[in-house]
Amino acid sequence: MSDWSPAQYRKFAEERAQPIHDLLALVEPGRIGRAVDLGCGPGELTVVVADRTGASDIVGVDNSPAMLASAAEHIRAGVSFASGDLGVWTSKGDHDLVFANASLHWTADHPAVLARWTAALAPGGQLAVQVPANAYMPAHLLADEVARREPYCSAMGGDPPPDPVAANVLAPEEYAQLLYDLGFERQHVRLQVYPHVLPSTRHVVEWLRGTALTRFEKLLDPSLYTQFLAEYEGALLQRVGDHTPYFFPFRRVLLWGTLPR
Ligand SMILES: C[S@@+](CC[C@H](N)C(=O)[O-])C[C@H]1O[C@@H](n2cnc3c(N)ncnc32)[C@H](O)[C@@H]1O
Repeated sequence: MSDWSPAQYRKFAEERAQPIHDLLALVEPGRIGRAVDLGCGPGELTVVVADRTGASDIVGVDNSPAMLASAAEHIRAGVSFASGDLGVWTSKGDHDLVFANASLHWTADHPAVLARWTAALAPGGQLAVQVPANAYMPAHLLADEVARREPYCSAMGGDPPPDPVAANVLAPEEYAQLLYDLGFERQHVRLQVYPHVLPSTRHVVEWLRGTALTRFEKLLDPSLYTQFLAEYEGALLQRVGDHTPYFFPFRRVLLWGTLPR
């Protein structure tokens, strides 16, 4: 079974970093002592969060051994990394900031997960989360469609894993309601479209290989996964056209809230 690939994920580092800066702009300055970056990936952005917020103690949590091995390069005073499952992570009201960029969608039941993350916040603590909301896009729908074809479908037990964004991500107003119900005193929830311009349509496959397609890579043997990628690329070019460059709009939900002091 394959793990996440930090190298593949970093191929679009600049584009993937854009929402983190928008999310950090929502975090209010002030004394941030203890913080956590849930689903921290290869760790570069955990350091950005530490530097921008001035957090004195931030732990990046991830469940991918490859991502954690890569993150180890970024360990320094006040920045550490730990293995953990963000779907069950919580703590006892002792964090000033719970931060999660592009990771919450990999878990189900966001009301329960966000309730656990909120329980980890101290009075006045801040929650800042970004999730993709792009399940309707042709590239994502098509990946599911090709995964349901043979021989891939049978190789994945007749039940290819669904797109986590389609399965798990809520509407922006549902997150707003959740933050209200969880007792956040102030909040900011918005849907933002990131206008990425990729060198060509084919680069969409490279983009998704770093994220959404990893769920198939984990279940298919390497030669079948290579075959899947080629079939998916062919189907994508047929569906959306072979463009150079290719405009790839990407919808994301940004949510931020602060608890009363
Ligand atoms: C798209 S990457 C985002 C990485 C980083 N936050 C960033 O903004 O670049 C998603 C990360 O979430 C991690 N992840 C997925 N499911 C997880 C889980 N249940 N528990 C912990 N980490 C998880 C993956 O290993 C991966 O590193």
